[in-house]
Amino acid sequence: MADIFERLVKNYGPIGQHRERAHGYFAFPKLEGEINNRMIFRGKEMIVWSLNNYLGLANHPEVRKTDADASAQYGLALPMGARMMSGNSNFHEQLEAELAAFEGKEDAILMNYGYQGIMSTIDAVCGRHDIVVYDAESHACIIDGLRLHPGHRYVFKHNDIEDCEKQLERATALIDKQKAGGILVITEGVFGMAGDQGKLKEIVDLKSTYDFRLLVDDAHGFGTLGDTGAGAGEAQGCQDGIDLYFSTFAKSMASIGAFLAGPKVIVDYIRYNIRSQIFAKSLPMPFVIGNLKRLELLQTKPELKEKLWSNALKLQAGLKERGFDIGKTDSVVTPIYMKGGVEEATAMVMDLRENYHIFCSIVVYPVIPKGHIIYRLIPTAAHTEADIEETLKAFSETKSKLEAGEYKVEMIPDMAG
Ligand SMILES: Cc1ncc(COP(=O)(O)O)c(C=O)c1O
Repeated sequence: MADIFERLVKNYGPIGQHRERAHGYFAFPKLEGEINNRMIFRGKEMIVWSLNNYLGLANHPEVRKTDADASAQYGLALPMGARMMSGNSNFHEQLEAELAAFEGKEDAILMNYGYQGIMSTIDAVCGRHDIVVYDAESHACIIDGLRLHPGHRYVFKHNDIEDCEKQLERATALIDKQKAGGILVITEGVFGMAGDQGKLKEIVDLKSTYDFRLLVDDAHGFGTLGDTGAGAGEAQGCQDGIDLYFSTFAKSMASIGAFLAGPKVIVDYIRYNIRSQIFAKSLPMPFVIGNLKRLELLQTKPELKEKLWSNALKLQAGLKERGFDIGKTDSVVTPIYMKGGVEEATAMVMDLRENYHIFCSIVVYPVIPKGHIIYRLIPTAAHTEADIEETLKAFSETKSKLEAGEYKVEMIPDMAG
């Protein structure tokens, strides 16, 4: 018989295999100091482009005060137990009501985490005869939610409406044949890696031809898109066509938790049937009260979203002017596409950090095809013109070095520690 542990340590996986040289630097880095545009990494101040603190709320004085006051008053334990058993409170219900109103939906339910929440939503909503039609570039939490789904799932090419329609035709034909089940389409408001918005409007328009319900994970659109910040549905003028609207609090809200908003009867069904919430402790009070404050600021301080967009547009225009390929982003997420190997990418990241004091994330093979590198910059309302200028200069210089082959190294630089 094989020993499971023996197998695990033979292959640490695509990223884990580099851990001895990468740990603490390329993977699991420790950013220190207050969450802001500049933070400390290994003793040096860096301009940070890796945090989804879109509106700069993480360190907003009113947020910090509310978090501290709520922690002092209630502690981190209250309420104990799952919502259904003993863990409910007026604050939880108030936050749900405010989120529902903000999203133009009848009701909403809180979840402890976005990842677990979306998985469990798919599990609660879909039965074995139902068919899920989903975008090929869906976030890992959607893919993992599909692992819980006992029925069929049809994937459509990323943001390809023709292919989406083809999959809807297939799904409709199978449902007609089996004389049971319905269709749930799942996509995202903003795809967090490339920054392109999901084609929500076009998908909603398909409802005139096909019968389906639509679930949208708008983790990156919530707070950043739409006139009021209600997200990608609002921005595309199709919020009413989204049956289930989902977002995490881990990005614009700079907190923890998530929510799902939709029709009252369906949210009620989910409330009584979502396993990850029924069998887990509810969100602690300071998070709920802290999220109420964040939601208030998100709604009453439009200048935060304006600053975020002004920074994002300056950064994106500056990159384009300097000949960078930033793909099809139509959100604030700013990818930079380059060519090179994993080793070269890490050498460039090291140069950016050590000599230019720029901290950003990279995506390399096997997440994307071999020979490609994506640098992913997340602008926030907390960034300044000086941050953008310094970053553009740093990227121009390092791009020239990359193209001149200056980062060609045999191995990932050994930066563990
Ligand atoms: C699209 C999307 N959905 C869900 C999640 C998970 O949210 P959480 O961090 O609250 O678990 C993320 C976070 O990375 C995300 O980008």
